[in-house]
Amino acid sequence: MSEKTIVSGARPTGRLHLGNYRGAIRHWLKFQDTHRCFFFVADWHALTTDYANPGQIVENTIEMMLDWLAVGLDPARCVMFQQSAVKEHAELYLLFGMITPVPWLERTPTYKEQREQLTDRDLSTYGFLGYPLLQAADILLYRADGVPVGIDQAPHVELTREIARRFNTSYRPLFPEPATLLSEIPKILGTDGRKMSKSYNNAVYLTEPAADVERKLSRMVTDPRRARRTDPGDPDDCPAYQSFHKIYCTPEELAYQAKGCRSASIGCLECKQIMIKHVQAELEPIRARRAKLGPDDARRALEAGNAAARSVAAATMADVRDAMGLG
Ligand code: TRP
Ligand code: SF4
Repeated sequence: MSEKTIVSGARPTGRLHLGNYRGAIRHWLKFQDTHRCFFFVADWHALTTDYANPGQIVENTIEMMLDWLAVGLDPARCVMFQQSAVKEHAELYLLFGMITPVPWLERTPTYKEQREQLTDRDLSTYGFLGYPLLQAADILLYRADGVPVGIDQAPHVELTREIARRFNTSYRPLFPEPATLLSEIPKILGTDGRKMSKSYNNAVYLTEPAADVERKLSRMVTDPRRARRTDPGDPDDCPAYQSFHKIYCTPEELAYQAKGCRSASIGCLECKQIMIKHVQAELEPIRARRAKLGPDDARRALEAGNAAARSVAAATMADVRDAMGLG
């Protein structure tokens, strides 16, 4: 087969918000017709940081899957599966552990950063140190040529290439060195002006009712100088303009809004209505598709995807075991 293979994954965060969609999933869609695609729910990865409070991994997996289906990921055109359902991920991770110097993992930028930032938990665990290696196994198990991810994940794909190289030279060439397919991550801010995040309670979800989207976005923070309708403002200091307007509005609309803001000839609500219209147009077909789906659709898609992933993974592992003298 001449088609290139794409692999990407996401932690089971439950229903998706616009930041998840614009930052990652939307980029996956375009590979469905041109590549052999594997998209998976990284449920083991969730435990690397949240082992003490695993919460609702199963429910979150189903919810996220439903949103994947709603945005148009199609089980007939891509393999969607659950990491923990394909045990070969664990086996390859273990074997990669044999050839990976610990300093390669310790110098991963996210390792140091997250240990410093997530001070509410003990991340001196083996699982947390090893999670980029688990990610390398996720990717190489399907012999991926490319990995669509945001810039924050680039060091992990780099490590994946190093592991592939080390394996290929130590035993025999089995793995392509996958390219990082950087998806441009738009700056989507939450309604309070901070980064959009489930835990900040500032997110707009893909499948929430139109009235809720309208309400949340019309209350989103703007330039504080526009306390009264007659006070002029500056779009450069407006979180709504800097994220939503810029992503969703046309250049003509943006010019009209910026001018109206600086001269106080339009109010914030009128200004935002222009943007909200575009957001609703994007969400409407997603909402409509989601309304026709139930948990059984997610389970069915996962079962089929898990089976398809397993058969590819089994074939890779047969080669790996053979190359490492375990055949
Ligand atoms: N580490 C990724 C994240 O936190 C998720 C992930 C796990 C992934 N395995 C992967 C992404 C393999 C791409 C390829 O977002
Ligand atoms: Fe932001 Fe528009 Fe209000 Fe200006 S008028 S502060 S750009 S929402």
